[in-house]
Amino acid sequence: MKQQRNSGRRERRSALYEIRKSNIQGKGVFAMRRIRPGQRIVEYTGEKITNDEADKRYDEDKMKRHHTFLFTLNDDYCIDGDVPTNKAALINHSCDPNCEAVIEDDRIWIYALKNIQPGVELAYDYQYERTGDDIEALEKFYVCRCGSPKCRGSIMAPPKKRRKKKKAAKRSKRKTSR
Ligand SMILES: C[S@@+](CC[C@H](N)C(=O)[O-])C[C@H]1O[C@@H](n2cnc3c(N)ncnc32)[C@H](O)[C@@H]1O
Ligand SMILES: [Zn+2]
Repeated sequence: MKQQRNSGRRERRSALYEIRKSNIQGKGVFAMRRIRPGQRIVEYTGEKITNDEADKRYDEDKMKRHHTFLFTLNDDYCIDGDVPTNKAALINHSCDPNCEAVIEDDRIWIYALKNIQPGVELAYDYQYERTGDDIEALEKFYVCRCGSPKCRGSIMAPPKKRRKKKKAAKRSKRKTSR
């Protein structure tokens, strides 16, 4: 009797994404297949280092334009994603993103926020922390080129809104001349 052989091979699906030149900046990551909302796409991997070490590795004062591969985990640590196996490092920022980055037990995962069609560039909102007072210089240094109609102009997190006082101040009955 002819023996049934199991080839041991699993049916391979085509790649979910590819890396190629982006209109936003440098290289980017593009969907190759349809990606569904909530789908986990890729892990942002790299070397876990202290924030102090990150400051030593990347001296922003010496950069003309911001360019790093750092992802903040918490007040003490970040991931330096500048390792060849980390494809997620090439995902650009968008102010109107189709992905989000989620930290789960010190690991960073990129999830789809919406339906993403093949050929569309993946992007999440970097929301870089605003440090420093010279807003104009910061916005120039962290300039955003996502091209979205919702673009904030910079890849920094939007400025924090002042919290409204719990009780509204009594309005003056008099009209102001303004
Ligand atoms: C982790 S890299 C992303 C991959 C990058 N395109 C590359 O080829 O290296 C992060 C850097 O890409 C650039 N970048 C990402 N999104 C951007 C955007 N929307 N506008 C301008 N620069 C962006 C910034 O320089 C940022 O520091
Ligand atoms: Zn933008």
